Amino acid sequence: SAAEKGGYASFMLKEIADQPKAVADTLLGRVDGSGTLHLDEVRIAPGVLREVDKVVVVACGTAFHAGMIAKYAIEHWTRLPCETELASEFRYRDPILDQRTLVVAISQSGETMDTLMAVRHAREQGAKVLAICNTNGSTIPRESDAVLYTHAGPEVAVASTKAFLTQLVACYLVALYLGQVRGTKWGDEIRTVVRQLSEMSGAVERVLGTMEPVRELARSLAGHDTVLFVGRHVGYPVALEGALKLKELAYMHAEGFAAGELKHGPIALIEEGLPVVVVVPSPRGRSVLHGKIVSNIQEIRARGARTVVIAEEGDDEVVPYADHLIRIPATPTLLQPLVATVPLQVFACELATARGNEVDQPRNLAKSVTVE
Ligand code: G6P
Repeated sequence: SAAEKGGYASFMLKEIADQPKAVADTLLGRVDGSGTLHLDEVRIAPGVLREVDKVVVVACGTAFHAGMIAKYAIEHWTRLPCETELASEFRYRDPILDQRTLVVAISQSGETMDTLMAVRHAREQGAKVLAICNTNGSTIPRESDAVLYTHAGPEVAVASTKAFLTQLVACYLVALYLGQVRGTKWGDEIRTVVRQLSEMSGAVERVLGTMEPVRELARSLAGHDTVLFVGRHVGYPVALEGALKLKELAYMHAEGFAAGELKHGPIALIEEGLPVVVVVPSPRGRSVLHGKIVSNIQEIRARGARTVVIAEEGDDEVVPYADHLIRIPATPTLLQPLVATVPLQVFACELATARGNEVDQPRNLAKSVTVE
């Protein structure tokens, strides 16, 4: 009903708008002003976490993209090797797991069969399983050793939005917590980032306040067949998520690429007028990658593409190469997906609506897939 949608035309629009609160709620009570994490619900003893020698993240769909970003965060703050794998592929290759493996299973619903089977397989091999889940008391958390709940509130629209942002927050919390418990050399950075996480809700709110040009752009592209998305580092999973949203909602051919891979094939797809969305990394800190992606944008544009550039406020270098510029607030590099994903959600939702699609119930999809 209209009341359940809080006055919005769809659950998806409401859920996009809910994101600042969802992000804040997921941090509530878990972070203090000194930059220390309190994750009592992670009921795996610190002694066990200190013995972990490998992390494996398993998930499907949008949650898998959160898991890809988790890998960057976990390896950076803990120096533990981390792999992220599609839950549907995981057990069939007989993965190497033992008591010192921490498996992180991410699932909004907690009922996805592929992810549940991965959890069961991991526990049979003696691994410890930590679930990141949005649904209290669902099957995956019940079958895991511990659970960190995301506090996105109920997500009704089939395409995931606020659950994804809170999965990212939970992944950062897990990465930072592992770093805190294990005492890596990044201790000061961890405390700083914990404090910066508390500012991300406001940053998401600011992005939401500037989306009208993104909606206009989306409407102008409704007649296109293909949109490509490229990014690097944590911007690569963001590109994949932007493409997935467009497939799910607009039924368009959309693909995400790592920008460095363009020259190894995908650049052959670029033609006059093709919209290419580029997620630009922070110009600070990762300056090497920033310079490389600026060259990529030039290459794409030289071949006639219409560039849609998502870049931080104050990043002036990209301006000459952007046919459309979408600004996001400056954030620490690893946290950028929290703000960079939001315009892509709005873009897909608006484009789908312009094409006459029902955004809450896309054809052929289910909110929770409980078969393998
Ligand atoms: C389905 C949904 C996706 C979701 C995926 C994983 O395919 O349509 O939006 O990302 O399942 O769902 P989960 O509940 O495990 O996060």
